[in-house]
Amino acid sequence: MGYQKLFSQGQIGSLCLKNRGIMMPMATDLADHDGVVTQRQIKYYQERAKGGVAMIIQEYTGVDDVDSIPSIHNLRAARDYHISALEELVDAVHLYDCKIIAQLHHGGATSNPDFTGRKNIAPSAIPIAEGRPVPREMTLEDIKRVQNKFIAAAIRCKKAGYDGVELHGAHGYLIAQFFSKYYNRRQDQYGGSVENRARFLTEIIYGIRRELGNYPILVRMCGDEMTDEEGFLSLSEGLEIARELEIAGIDAIDISNGSARNGDANCEPFSYTPGWKKHVARAYKMALGIPVIATNTIKNPDFAEKLLSEEVCDFVGLGRSQLADPFFMNKAHQGKSEDIRQCIGCLYCRERVLRDAMPIRCTVNARTAREIEIPQLCKNGNGKAVAVIGGGPAGMEAALVLAKRGFSVTLFEKRKQLGGMLNVADKPPFKENITRLRKTMELQLKKLGVKINLGCAGTVEEISSISPAGVVIACGAKPVIPPLSGIDGKNVYLAEDVVAGQKVVPPGRVAVVGTGLTGLETASMLGKAGNKVLLVEMADDIGPGIYSAIRNDELSRVLSYDPAIYAGHRLLSIEEQGILVENVTDHQLQLLEVDSVVLALGVKPDVKFVRGLLAQMTTCEIRVVGDARRGGRIGDAIRDGFEAGATLQNDN
Ligand SMILES: Cc1cc2nc3c(=O)[nH]c(=O)nc-3n(C[C@H](O)[C@H](O)[C@H](O)COP(=O)(O)O)c2cc1C
Ligand code: SF4
Repeated sequence: MGYQKLFSQGQIGSLCLKNRGIMMPMATDLADHDGVVTQRQIKYYQERAKGGVAMIIQEYTGVDDVDSIPSIHNLRAARDYHISALEELVDAVHLYDCKIIAQLHHGGATSNPDFTGRKNIAPSAIPIAEGRPVPREMTLEDIKRVQNKFIAAAIRCKKAGYDGVELHGAHGYLIAQFFSKYYNRRQDQYGGSVENRARFLTEIIYGIRRELGNYPILVRMCGDEMTDEEGFLSLSEGLEIARELEIAGIDAIDISNGSARNGDANCEPFSYTPGWKKHVARAYKMALGIPVIATNTIKNPDFAEKLLSEEVCDFVGLGRSQLADPFFMNKAHQGKSEDIRQCIGCLYCRERVLRDAMPIRCTVNARTAREIEIPQLCKNGNGKAVAVIGGGPAGMEAALVLAKRGFSVTLFEKRKQLGGMLNVADKPPFKENITRLRKTMELQLKKLGVKINLGCAGTVEEISSISPAGVVIACGAKPVIPPLSGIDGKNVYLAEDVVAGQKVVPPGRVAVVGTGLTGLETASMLGKAGNKVLLVEMADDIGPGIYSAIRNDELSRVLSYDPAIYAGHRLLSIEEQGILVENVTDHQLQLLEVDSVVLALGVKPDVKFVRGLLAQMTTCEIRVVGDARRGGRIGDAIRDGFEAGATLQNDN
C-alpha cells in the first residue's frame, strides 16, 4: 500500500509540511525543575523527528510560572532564560527536515497550589472537579496579564526558532475553562455568549498577530467534551467557537475530545474501537476552511490513510503511536508497515506522567525517553553465539536486540509457540493489540535470523552445545499458589489456565481470588459465560494498583455481571462447601458457598530453576530478566529484555 494521502505534502499557513503525519503534544515530565528543556528531552524529540513525522507539536509548555505549575517537571517558555535550551531542541529537530510547534499552556483551575504557593486563578470560582481547590475568579487585570504571558511566550518561541505555536484550548485547561459555560459564569465581556467565551483566546490570537505578523498560530480544542453534565462543550457549540477562532485568523485547528472530567475521550483505553470519534473531526473539517488536525487512536498507517481518504481531517495526529514506535512514518514510507511496533493502548504512559508525575515511558518501547542513555546499539556481536532461554516478551526483546547487535542468537522456548505471558494477556476481549505485538516481535525475530527452538526448554547441555558467550534467562515465572488447606482440590483453577482456555470452569458459583487486572478480566470472562462470580480481594477495594482509567474501563464490564464483592477479605482455606475467608479489619470468618475457585494472585520467579541454571553455567556472562527476575508487567519484561540485549557482552 502506497499511502498516497499520508505522504502527500500539506500546508498550514506559511508552513509547507512534507507529509500528513503530525506528532501530537504529550507531556514527558522530562524538563528540569525550573521548566528548562533537558538533554534527555532533546534526544527524545530528535528521535521522533528522525522517524519521519512532518511536524512535532511539542508537549504542553507553560507560559506562566507564577499561577500555573501543573507538575514539577513541566516544560516552560515563561522566562527569557528558557529560550536558549528551547532553541537547542528546535535545532535538533530541524536537522531532520521536521517542523516543530510549541503548545502554549496555562492550567487555570487545574494548576497545583502546592507548587505555586498561590490560589489557582480561573474565569470563575469553580473547582475543576469535586474536592479540588476552589480557584479565585480572575479580574480584568488578571486576564490582561495572562493574555500578555501567552503573547510573550509566543515571542520567545519565535526567537528560539519554533515554526509556530499552538494555543492549548483543550482538556479543561484555562482557555477551555473560558470556553465552558460550566466553568465560566462571568457576566462581563468574557462570559455569556460564544463570542464572549472565546474572547480570552481571540484577544491572545490578535496580540500574537500584532507582535509576530503571519507567524503560524494553531489552536487545540476539544471538538466535543463528551461530558454529560450541563455546561460542558457539545459538538455544536464547539463548532461555533471554532468559527470565532477561524475569523480571528488561526492557521489550523487541532481537534481533540473530552474534558477535565472525561480524559478517556481524549486518550482512551484499549477497549475503544479506533475511529469511534471520527465524526467529530469530520464535522469541523466540513464546517471550517482551515486545515484540521485530529487524533483518532491511530495505531497503524493503513488507518491513518483511511481517515485522510474519508476526509475526516487534513493531517493525522499521532500521539501514543509515536511513543510506541518513533519510526512509524519512515517504516510506512519504506513499505515496512509490518515492522511498526504498535501501541497496545495500555495507558502506562498516561499513568506515569499524569498520575505519578514521573518521566514518560512506553510499555512496548523501552527506548522511549532513554534515547540519550542508549543513543545507538553497540554493533559488536561479530557473529558470536548467545542463547536466550524463554520466548516471552523479555526473551523475545533480548533476542531482537542481540540480533540487531550482530550476535548469532539461539532462542529456546519450552512451549510450541512464542509469546509467553502475551499468549494469556491477549485472550480477554479487546486485547487484539497484544496478539499483534507478539506477531510483530515474532516477525522481527525471523527477519533478523534468530534461530528459534520451540518445544525445547533449553537444558544446560543444549545451551552448552552452541558455546554461547552470553546467556539471557527469560524463563518466566510460576503462579503464586498459597499453601492453604484444600488448595490442591479439583475445583481450584489458575486464572491463566482459565483465560487461555486450557481449563474450563464448570457452570456455577465461582470465587475469583485476587482482583488485579488478570483477576478482573477472568471474572468478566466467567461472568459472560453465565457463572455467578464472587470477587475476593485482600485490599480494601477491588482492582488495587490498576491505573484508574484502565480499572474503570475493566470494571464497566465486570460489574455488568453483578459479582458479589468481598474486598478486605483474605482467603483462609478451601472447604467442601466453599471457601473460608477472613475479614482483614474485624477478623470475622465467613464461609462463602462456591463450586469453583480461580486463583489470580500473580506470579513469582522460579528461583530454584534459575539458581540451578546459574550454578551450572559459570563460564559465560548471564542475565536474568523479566518474570524470571521479578513478577511484573509486559513493560517491565520488555524493558528488562531490551537492557540485557543492549548491554550483554559490551565490555568484551
Ligand atoms: C502521556 C501523555 C501526555 C499527554 N500530554 C498532552 C499534552 O501535553 N497536551 C495535549 O494537548 N495533549 C496531551 N496528551 C493527549 C495526546 O496529545 C493525544 O490527544 C492522545 O494521546 C490521543 O491520541 P492518540 O490516540 O494518537 O494517542 C497526552 C497524552 C499522553 C498519552
Ligand atoms: S505505554 Fe501503552 S498506551 Fe502508552 S504508548 Fe505505550 S503501548 Fe501505547
